[in-house]
Amino acid sequence: MHSKHYFKVFILVVGLLVSCNTKEQKKSNQSIKLEHRYEKLLSYKVDSLSFPRSMSLNPENVHKVPSKDWTSGFFPGSLWQIYKLTGDERYKERAAAWTALVENQKYNDKTHDMGFKVYCSFGEGLKVEDNQFYKDVIVESAKTLCTRFNSNVGSIRSWDFNSDIWEFPVIVDNMLNLELLFEATKISGDSTFHKIAETHANTTLKNHFRADNSIYHVVVYDTISGAPKMKVTHQGFNDESTWARGQGWGIYGYTMAYRYTKNPAFLKQAEATAKFYMEHENLPEDGIPYWDFNDPAIPNAPRDASAAAVVTSALYELYGFTQNKVYLYFANKVLNNLNSSKYLLDDTVNGPFILNHSTGNWPKNDEIDEPISYADYYFLEALLRKKAL
Ligand code: GLY
Repeated sequence: MHSKHYFKVFILVVGLLVSCNTKEQKKSNQSIKLEHRYEKLLSYKVDSLSFPRSMSLNPENVHKVPSKDWTSGFFPGSLWQIYKLTGDERYKERAAAWTALVENQKYNDKTHDMGFKVYCSFGEGLKVEDNQFYKDVIVESAKTLCTRFNSNVGSIRSWDFNSDIWEFPVIVDNMLNLELLFEATKISGDSTFHKIAETHANTTLKNHFRADNSIYHVVVYDTISGAPKMKVTHQGFNDESTWARGQGWGIYGYTMAYRYTKNPAFLKQAEATAKFYMEHENLPEDGIPYWDFNDPAIPNAPRDASAAAVVTSALYELYGFTQNKVYLYFANKVLNNLNSSKYLLDDTVNGPFILNHSTGNWPKNDEIDEPISYADYYFLEALLRKKAL
C-alpha cells in the first residue's frame, strides 16, 4: 500500500478514537452534572412545612410550601425516581420520609389536586415497594377526591375559589388526578373510582377541546343542567389562547386514561392533542415551548420547561401504545435538550432542583423562568420511561 494511503487510514483511526473519547467524555460530564443536581435534592432538610416548590435565582431563594399545596407530591416523587435511576438507597430513605409528610392530605376535600399530591408521592413509592400503608393512603385519598364528583356534570370539581362567578369549574389539569382513582380501583377492587375517572375523562373530552385540538383551560358548568356555560382561562394568555402546560396536561391525561381504559377515543384525542403541540409554528426548534403558544411577545416570551417535561414523558408512553416513531424521536430530542447545560441548573446553584426555565403562573407574574418542582418530576419520569424502552 502506498505510504500516503497508510497515512490516511492512520488519520481516520485517530479521528475515530478522538471522536469516541469526546462523546464518552461529554456523556460522563453530563451524567456527573445530573448526579450533582440529585445530591442537592438529597441534602435538602426534611421539614413538613418546607416542600420545595420553586426558586428564584437572583438572589437564590427557595419557595417552600406545606403539604396542602398542590405541588407537595412532586419532591418526594422525584426522590423515588432518582432512587430508581441510581439505585442509591439514600434517595429511597429520603423519599419515604418526605412521602410520609403528605399523608395528612388524605382527608383534605377542599382540593382536586389529590392525585398530584398523593399519587406522585405514595404512588411512586408503591412502584418501588409493595407497602400496605401506601395502598391504604391511596384508597382513602381516592374516596376523598370522589366527594368532589358531581353526577349531573359528570366531573370532579376543580377549584372552590371564585365561586360567585364560576359555579362549577373544571380545569384540564384535573385529568392528571384520575391516575389516583384508576389505581385505587386496582388496589381495592372497588370499581366506583374507575367509573368516576372514566366519566370525568369523557366529559372533559366533550367540552375542553377546540376544533383544532387545542385546549380550553377552564370549563365552567351549570350544576342543574350539567351543561358547560363558560370556557375561559386562568393561567393562559387569554381565553382563546393555548397555554402550553395545559396542552401538556391534555396529552398526558388522555394517554394515561387510555392506559387504564383502552378507550380508543382517548388514544385518538391524545394523538390529536400531541399533533397540535408538536406541529405548532410557534414551537421553538429545540422543542421547549413558550409558556403560551399565543403570547404576542414570542420569540421574547419566557419558555416553560415544565410543559416540555410533561409532554416528553407522555410521548414515551404514547409511542408505546402506537409504535409511531414520530413520538419517540420528538421525545428523545426534547429530553436531550432538557438534559443539557441550557436547561439544567448549574452546579453552583444550591436549591433542590434540576431544571431551570419553567413558568408557573404568567398572568400573576409568579414563577417566571425559574426552577419548579413538577418540571423535575416529569423530566425524571421521562428519563425512566426512556430507559425502560
Ligand atoms: N395545575 C396547576 C398548574 O399546572 O400550574
